[in-house]
Amino acid sequence: MHKKGNPMKLFELSNFIPSIPKNLVITDIEELYKRPNAFDDSGEWDWWYFSTKVDNELQDFLQPYFNYPVEVYYQLSGRQLTPHIDQGRTFCYNYTLLSGGPDVKTRWYDDNMENIIYEITAPISTWHRLQVDVPHDISEIESHRLSLTIQAATK
Ligand SMILES: [Fe+2]
Repeated sequence: MHKKGNPMKLFELSNFIPSIPKNLVITDIEELYKRPNAFDDSGEWDWWYFSTKVDNELQDFLQPYFNYPVEVYYQLSGRQLTPHIDQGRTFCYNYTLLSGGPDVKTRWYDDNMENIIYEITAPISTWHRLQVDVPHDISEIESHRLSLTIQAATK
């Protein structure tokens, strides 16, 4: 069990996962928005959270670094996130492709979502592990924020 408020458990770099070759990722926002939204198929063009599975080639590139089945998604934010706890996962590994601004922070909150207990600007193109069963959000973005996210497969 992690201790709430322990920064090492809320965020840590994950050097065991390699950098992604550029030819394996899509960073064209319009291209991604054409794909099905795994999170919420609301039909809006500029979701606060849009998530879609990566192509098999990238999935197959990443799976060997885990000893359990994983699912890999693009996640895209076009609007401000509010503090939340993720559904269906307690932690994930993220890799920022487009930061959304020069100093966008990932922030964690206490249980009443009022006080920030830890914040960090995740380095771009660097795998890191995030605890997401503790309330968290990102600071204000000025453009789309795009990342890869790896989580345990649900089936
Ligand atoms: Fe989240």
